[in-house]
Amino acid sequence: MKYLVANWKSHKTIKQALAWVDAFENTTLDHDIRVIVAPAFPFIHFVHSRLEEKKVPFDVASQDISPFPQGAYTGAVATEMIEKWVRYGIVGHSERRKYFHETNQDVANKVTQLLDLGITPIVCIDVPYAEQQIAALEEVSFPRLIFAYEPVEAIGSGTPDSPDHAKEIISAVKGKVGELTPVLYGGSVTAENAPGFLETGVVDGFLVGGTSLDAEKWRDLINACS
Ligand code: PGA
Repeated sequence: MKYLVANWKSHKTIKQALAWVDAFENTTLDHDIRVIVAPAFPFIHFVHSRLEEKKVPFDVASQDISPFPQGAYTGAVATEMIEKWVRYGIVGHSERRKYFHETNQDVANKVTQLLDLGITPIVCIDVPYAEQQIAALEEVSFPRLIFAYEPVEAIGSGTPDSPDHAKEIISAVKGKVGELTPVLYGGSVTAENAPGFLETGVVDGFLVGGTSLDAEKWRDLINACS
């Protein structure tokens, strides 16, 4: 299975989000490709409905989740609030760790919240911290997770990691979390450079920011991975 995750980050109005979905009306996918779109929280429900309405076979993910269950946590979105619409939840993105000061323990708590409701966490890790980031999840069963290796300097820079280096890191990660746990690559992925990563034989798909925002570029990426 190859996973293509569109991480829209803090981009798009509701109008732009729905127009993007409409561009994929009646799309069909190869049986071994899973496409996942992660809109901002307020649009998760709308994007999910529109995907169904337009017969677009993409799943929905959240970009983050509260580390707590429902309760007195002003501003937090608990898993129960979105579980109807999401099958996946991105956690521990380096932007969350950097700008919102999330710790490995926060990420582990978020993973637990998602797993409790049967949502698959997509856990972002980076080098040189991957070892501690993975160790913080020791109480979790790794086969229930998807990991995304995202070198910070490759994110949004237009300079991706090399497939050879990504292969080295992802192979080491799989050595720790098990060969059956999917590990994605993220950082300046495009339709042009994606096949080189897939050819390594260890990359199970991509977590994509910039290239996912434009429907045409996203379609090109899906085609390049098909
Ligand atoms: P990018 O972002 O594709 O724009 O580099 C990737 C990510 O941050 O998930």
